[in-house]
Amino acid sequence: MTSEDIRQRFLDFFEQRGHKIIPSASLVPSDYGDNGTLFTTAGMQPLIPYLLGKPHPAGTRIADVQKCLRTIDIDDVGDNRHNTFFEMLGNWSLGDYFKKESIPWSFDFLTNKEYGLGLDPARFYVTVFAGTKEIPRDEGSIKIWQEVFTKYDLTNKVAGEDEMFKDGVRIIPLGVDDNFWIAGDTGPCGGDTEIFYDTQPEKGAPIGKFNNLVESFRLIEVWNNVFMEFNKTPEGKYEPLAAKNVDTGMGLERTTAVVNGQDNIFATDLFAPILSEIKQQVANFDEKASRIVADHVRTAVFMIADGVVPSNTDRGYILRRIIRRAVRFADQMQADTEVARKVAEVVIEKYKKVYPELEKNRDKILAELNKEEEKFRKTLAQGLKEFEKNQDPFDLYQTFGFPIELTEELAKERGLTIDRQKFDEQMAKHQEISKAGSEQKFKGGLAGHSDQTVKYHTATHLLHSALRQVLGKDVGQKGSNITDERLRFDFAYPTKLTDKEKAEVEKIVNDNISADLLVCRIELTKDEAEKTGALHFFGEKYGDNVSIYYIGDGIEDAVSKEFCGGPHVENTGALGRFKITKEEATSAGVRRIKAILE
Ligand code: SER
Repeated sequence: MTSEDIRQRFLDFFEQRGHKIIPSASLVPSDYGDNGTLFTTAGMQPLIPYLLGKPHPAGTRIADVQKCLRTIDIDDVGDNRHNTFFEMLGNWSLGDYFKKESIPWSFDFLTNKEYGLGLDPARFYVTVFAGTKEIPRDEGSIKIWQEVFTKYDLTNKVAGEDEMFKDGVRIIPLGVDDNFWIAGDTGPCGGDTEIFYDTQPEKGAPIGKFNNLVESFRLIEVWNNVFMEFNKTPEGKYEPLAAKNVDTGMGLERTTAVVNGQDNIFATDLFAPILSEIKQQVANFDEKASRIVADHVRTAVFMIADGVVPSNTDRGYILRRIIRRAVRFADQMQADTEVARKVAEVVIEKYKKVYPELEKNRDKILAELNKEEEKFRKTLAQGLKEFEKNQDPFDLYQTFGFPIELTEELAKERGLTIDRQKFDEQMAKHQEISKAGSEQKFKGGLAGHSDQTVKYHTATHLLHSALRQVLGKDVGQKGSNITDERLRFDFAYPTKLTDKEKAEVEKIVNDNISADLLVCRIELTKDEAEKTGALHFFGEKYGDNVSIYYIGDGIEDAVSKEFCGGPHVENTGALGRFKITKEEATSAGVRRIKAILE
């Protein structure tokens, strides 16, 4: 059965049971409730206001296929079942039906040969919510499952607290970590029942601990039914919802694999054409690397279609990392240039019928991918030059953001080995310093920390670097003072600035603001810090470990880098327009600039 059939069967099944079909919402959450996630991570997310009680225009029964994105498992992509973008099939009751309809429907759809997926009923096992001190065990779901299993002539015993399969156990109660669902930290939530499929029935009925059977990939979760009864408040209280809801989610990738007897999602038709294109684009095909490329390019295509572009902030930054990771793994297989674009063409072809936004944004998607790939290749080339000079993996990591795996690859290609142990030790030390540093991150530098003073602080760094650019490297900071209303910056320079010089300085600062550059902080030992060329002043006494703020892609070609305790904004885009309001002398050889952000 193809993925197209599965989507259609799912929607038809629920339409026939009174559900209205709604289109997928964007991957970029809009006004549908802010639970702190950058992307739509679950089918329920766009429905949060309705799950909290707002009437939905389509009524109280809804079904959909929702685009979702989770990067939490990005390092596991390449195994049999993890991916970043995925589609979730879901049916929803907004204060309408509850467990006794939802559970039997799920089982009917999974097993019915005529209108469902036709899977063998005997291969299913379920978990239910075991409860907490305050919330009782979900006896309702247990009873309904027992009735369903009896109807299909299956064993239906409930496991004890040992969570063991034995003697006909088919229902496993599990606690909050496994069977209580919430998106993010607050919002609608409740206990759930998860449906697992046995991938190795030839081994006989499962025996042993539930979690071991999941970890060994014998049991695979295909569908989750959440019974939402609470709203978790920011204070951590569980308030009962006015109306009880059902939120179900079935991952299309896994389901397609299971239905077709495949043991991994990359074997399904959702990925097969993408992988065969990758095969054509590379000289040294590698299974795992190609899966990563396929997953990441597919994700990037959907992100760009929903309006995300590569940048150094939030969503754009995640997209940038995903594209760069794809290119890196493609290059490990010796890919052709424009590999992301070529693979993306196949993704668009495969998905455009279901998601017309892909075709609509085709040119933009391909152009953004090409642009980012090219940019990354330039960084790589620059880093490679450096690599030929200096193979210290930690330097390469710090300065060029070279992942250790990449440095190892480069070394291997040249018949060199790198000292991985030394890198790991340096990395651990670095992380410790960063941690210690971040705990005292607000100590240095500024008196007040209102949003506005923080902005002026970052603007001061940009001003300083612009002055050095326009007036020369001898411009040295002599003093700085910031209030909520303005910044004041004193610097060594012999003569009055001309109007042209002032305009130039303003332009450089404003260009750096428009470029929405990332403001980054690293902690280094004093010696390491000095090597970066970061500015420091006043013959100040610095401790053994110092904090540096740099503005831009990497510390090497940062627009500004200074020893500084912060705090700063995260992105220069937050600053607004920079304007010099006054330029005057304070003493012989020292000039003072006052400037505002509009
Ligand atoms: N919200 C639940 C999940 O994502 C069911 O849709 O698993």
